[in-house]
Amino acid sequence: MRLITTYMLLCTLVSVDAVSSPCPLGFVEHKKSCYWFSKTLANFAEARSYCQYFGSHLAKVTSKDEDDFVRGHAARHGKAANYWLGATDLNVEGTWLWEGQQAMDYSNWSRSQPDNGGGAEHCLDIKQIYESYLWNDENCNTGVNFICEKEL
Ligand SMILES: *[C@@H]1O[C@H](CO)[C@@H](O)[C@H](O)[C@H]1NC(C)=O
Repeated sequence: MRLITTYMLLCTLVSVDAVSSPCPLGFVEHKKSCYWFSKTLANFAEARSYCQYFGSHLAKVTSKDEDDFVRGHAARHGKAANYWLGATDLNVEGTWLWEGQQAMDYSNWSRSQPDNGGGAEHCLDIKQIYESYLWNDENCNTGVNFICEKEL
């Protein structure tokens, strides 16, 4: 009897633990979103497709709180050199939009960025060597890591 009770208790604990995160497996929860930090490299278009395949989109960082979380997690856990976020200035040079449509009201560019280096940098990434992942414009064809976000 005691064994059965113990077993039942264990099952309860295990199942409670399994449902404690509302995020898909491998995603990290923060506030009202789930985030996935890639371990592989992809150019911007490939990265966007990966995120879409998993029912998410390249991360939209729209507040200091979200910026602190994303950059902090990258610094403590992911540690890749760069990560794509979901903004570009592909339509109008210098006008950065999230997912090609939403105005960028919050930003945290590294000093002297975005610089449109060589006239060819139209995709947003965060860069480890820029004061621990401050923002940078990168050539969209570069292979870098990326962060997907799925709202809860
Ligand atoms: C950008 O990031 C730095 C370092 O984390 C932080 O001190 C600063 O407040 C951020 N800038 C904005 C505009 O939030």
